[in-house]
Amino acid sequence: MSFGDKAAARLAGKTVFVTGASSGIGQATVLALAEAAKGDLKFVLAARRTDRLDELKKKLETDYKGIQVLPFKLDVSKVEETENIVSKLPKEFSEVDVLINNAGMVHGTEKVGSINQNDIEIMFHTNVLGLISVTQQFVGEMRKRNKGDIVNIGSIAGREPYVGGGIYCATKAAVRSFTETLRKENIDTRIRVIEVDPGAVETEFSVVRFRGDKSKADAVYAGTEPLVADDIAEFITYTLTRRENVVIADTLIFPNHQASPTHVYRKN
Ligand SMILES: NC(=O)c1ccc[n+]([C@@H]2O[C@H](COP(=O)([O-])OP(=O)(O)OC[C@H]3O[C@@H](n4cnc5c(N)ncnc54)[C@H](OP(=O)(O)O)[C@@H]3O)[C@@H](O)[C@H]2O)c1
Repeated sequence: MSFGDKAAARLAGKTVFVTGASSGIGQATVLALAEAAKGDLKFVLAARRTDRLDELKKKLETDYKGIQVLPFKLDVSKVEETENIVSKLPKEFSEVDVLINNAGMVHGTEKVGSINQNDIEIMFHTNVLGLISVTQQFVGEMRKRNKGDIVNIGSIAGREPYVGGGIYCATKAAVRSFTETLRKENIDTRIRVIEVDPGAVETEFSVVRFRGDKSKADAVYAGTEPLVADDIAEFITYTLTRRENVVIADTLIFPNHQASPTHVYRKN
């Protein structure tokens, strides 16, 4: 069997729940998985911007006959929205085989002492409490079925904190710690817990950090060649298409010019 056919067979018929599917890494991952599975998947696409999810659904349905796609409005930072997710899913989407905890964000570059309280709360509520709450919705059922994959998107920021990133780095360190506990707690099952930690990826991430100021966002990548969302999507797809006994537990992915959050080579 070819590499591609094996990958498709390992994904066939699965239900994949992706948070942050409306942009960047999440959206690219949906497209990469759909291609790898030749459309033989069911997707729950979760995010706040449902117009984008509707567009993605349309594209998937145009490209792949038989694919099933459910746009799902979800603000992961709101516990009243994350609790009881499963009960809100139609039956045909409720047995989730793959959970991709990708939704995440950063606000600002202020140093400790000057950080806006709302920014602290939104980063923790989205990146940490939201991820934990969504995971809690699915892990019990995965344990009962003795199978499932959980992919948590961390960051180099969770391994190596930097000045001006105190809160975001702390949230991603929390994701890292939570992910390890989750893997250990489910070691008696066929559940795979996978962490993917990207370095610099050019998405809407920096635009969100600088609250829509595109010129500040562009300056982050000036003189460098950042990763693109597809690079991470391809890798996530790789982790999910290994033989069930293979767990790509933990990976750090840099663009070629980067060696830490701040050690970046820039051409003039
Ligand atoms: N780009 C990088 O350099 C980089 C590096 C390392 C790690 N990461 C991580 O990669 C993940 C994806 O980021 P990205 O680079 O693809 O950025 P992005 O293009 O800004 O995408 C972020 C996604 O998260 C969703 N999201 C944000 N807040 C949400 C909320 N409260 N509820 C539900 N969805 C929410 C957004 O959807 P809506 O706005 O529609 O809700 C969007 O789909 C994040 O966890 C980020 O921390 C990124």
